[in-house]
Amino acid sequence: MLEKQIRETVDYIKRKIECVPEAAIVLGSGLGGFADSLEDAVAIPYEEIPGFVTSTAPGHKGQMVFGKKKGNYVLCMQGRFHYYEGYTMAQITFPVRVIKALGTPKLILTNSCGGLDPKFEPGDLMMITDHINFMGANPLIGPNEDMFGCRFPDMTKVYNKELAQKARTCAKELSIDLKEGVYVGYSGPSFETPAEIRMFQMLGGSAVGMSTVPEVITASHCGLEVLALSCITNLAAGILDQPLSGEEVIEVAGKAGQKFAELLEKIVEII
Ligand code: HPA
Repeated sequence: MLEKQIRETVDYIKRKIECVPEAAIVLGSGLGGFADSLEDAVAIPYEEIPGFVTSTAPGHKGQMVFGKKKGNYVLCMQGRFHYYEGYTMAQITFPVRVIKALGTPKLILTNSCGGLDPKFEPGDLMMITDHINFMGANPLIGPNEDMFGCRFPDMTKVYNKELAQKARTCAKELSIDLKEGVYVGYSGPSFETPAEIRMFQMLGGSAVGMSTVPEVITASHCGLEVLALSCITNLAAGILDQPLSGEEVIEVAGKAGQKFAELLEKIVEII
């Protein structure tokens, strides 16, 4: 069933693109601008892609864009699907399996998130070095899809060391102070309470957000090389004496978008 759907989706996409993308980049809330700068771009709205659901989250355009960046052919997802939108874990991670089935070896995931580390500031960029799945679900629950990976996949080397090192090098060249830390995945759509944030801090989290973890687990299961980058758009609930808002998240991500895009561009150039 899944295999048939994947084949249909991949056939549909392959008819529209030049060659197999060298990397896929999922652009999170407010970070979609990077895709607008691709050369010879071909955009496919999610509604047109068989098996895809539609993107309802604010700041998510909802299309796949294929094109060249610094000579490398890449695939950008301008917007993703979230668990809080009411989709199943299978639906939100379907694009990851499509990316694998297309033959693309590398997946760069980006997101906007709240900082748990009080030293972080809005607009900071953070590379995810590990995660805590606090979403209450796992995308691999259900019959194992043997064509993608094994029943009990190892999660000790999910974030690819070589890609991480390349990201560090690129950040250094651009004089970007790239933070590193543990991302806590939370279902949302409500933001966390101050008590939950204190708990996540005690658990060793550096940042919290409502995405990425399901995609990372699915990507790791099927052997994609993963790099994950976050934009800290706010300090998490209760750290400052001010309420959080979705609008603020999009606004700060938009402002950091230029820096984020420069870093992505450099990374794409060398991977
Ligand atoms: N919590 C969860 N998700 C988020 C946040 C936050 O503080 N900021 C941006 N996405």
